[in-house]
Amino acid sequence: MQGVILVGGEGTRLRPLTSGTPKPIVTFVDRPFMGFMLQWLARHDVTDVVMCCGFLATKVREVLGDGSGFGVRLRFVEEPEPRGTAGALKYAEDLLEDRFVMLNGDVLTDVDVGAQVRQHEATGAVGTLGLVPVEDPSAYGLVLLDEDNAVTGFLEKPGSDQLRDVDQYLISAGIYVLERRVLDLIPPGRAVSIEREVWPRLVGEGLYGHPAQDAYWLDIGTPERYLDGTRDILAGHVETAVSERLDAERQDLAGDVDPGARVTGPVIVEAGARVAAGARVIGPAVIGAGSELAPQAVVESAVVLHGCRIGPGAHVRRAILAGGVQIGANTIVEDGVVLGEGVEVGADCILSHGMKVFPHTTLPDGAIRF
Ligand code: GDD
Ligand code: MG
Repeated sequence: MQGVILVGGEGTRLRPLTSGTPKPIVTFVDRPFMGFMLQWLARHDVTDVVMCCGFLATKVREVLGDGSGFGVRLRFVEEPEPRGTAGALKYAEDLLEDRFVMLNGDVLTDVDVGAQVRQHEATGAVGTLGLVPVEDPSAYGLVLLDEDNAVTGFLEKPGSDQLRDVDQYLISAGIYVLERRVLDLIPPGRAVSIEREVWPRLVGEGLYGHPAQDAYWLDIGTPERYLDGTRDILAGHVETAVSERLDAERQDLAGDVDPGARVTGPVIVEAGARVAAGARVIGPAVIGAGSELAPQAVVESAVVLHGCRIGPGAHVRRAILAGGVQIGANTIVEDGVVLGEGVEVGADCILSHGMKVFPHTTLPDGAIRF
């Protein structure tokens, strides 16, 4: 089966992680995020994958290569300018087969795509949207179904007034099984949104929904959800290849962890990382290759990517540190803070409340304390 993945968005909500790195190749636990999607697709026999790129496409190509490292054959299409979700598909037209799976490039999931394809074939649908239940549909595409799973309404980013008579919030998971003839509905040469211009036109014309039962699903596009996804991968709430490298306690301490350090919960300390005596790592947490925790440093429910230095007595809690970040002694970084690549924070600072610091910024000792 063929897969088409859209990765042309700028990933603005994940800045500064996406300031110089496109969202699909931002490191997630221990691999580029897209690695999770490709390995999941390969498990469901979607092994011929076309990637529709825009933003920083060359970097995506460099990191993912021909896909063989993830069990797929990967080809790339680059739009001349962002064409929107349908326009991107149209632009890849020459490579597409009669039936394919189209995917948003930011979903972490273990949904059974095979079951969705089987339903698509059984109903003779033109398109079948993978659906998942959520509590708040306002950031997604809300899908209304009849008793045969035919779509009776599609509301992208619905306002509260549109939700009044809806009793179950099923949203589009960004996983679509499509017949090639859907391309006929997309005008060429301009930006077109599949959510706003194509799905509404297919309502009543062979568009079905496939509610996924008991599957894991997460759009990883915000720092909050990046941390939630990391936790769920480490804890094994979502089926991924990461589980293969973890022991019974869901740890892989490949790095140099001093016997006087304490490591609890699901934790990866990558090879080349060092955790000094008296330091603590409280999972779910990742310490990237070459990163160092000084004595009495604490990393808790956080991600510290490669080459970081956490000074003595510093605390990093529910935060994300991109590569090469340095944190001075006794500084606290907490509560959804994201530090971009190469950020240097001096001693005795407090960074909190979801603050984001752009790559290569330097904050002197005591500069920020809130
Ligand atoms: N190639 C290309 N070109 N890709 C694009 C473009 C473009 O112009 N615009 C967006 N994309 C890609 C993004 O990179 C992302 O992988 C995907 O299309 C969806 O865009 P998002 O910006 O992440 O959309 P969203 O999360 O607000 O909403 C979409 O996903 C929800 C599920 O997560 C919609 O499809 C909703 O209906 C859906 O519920
Ligand atoms: Mg998204």
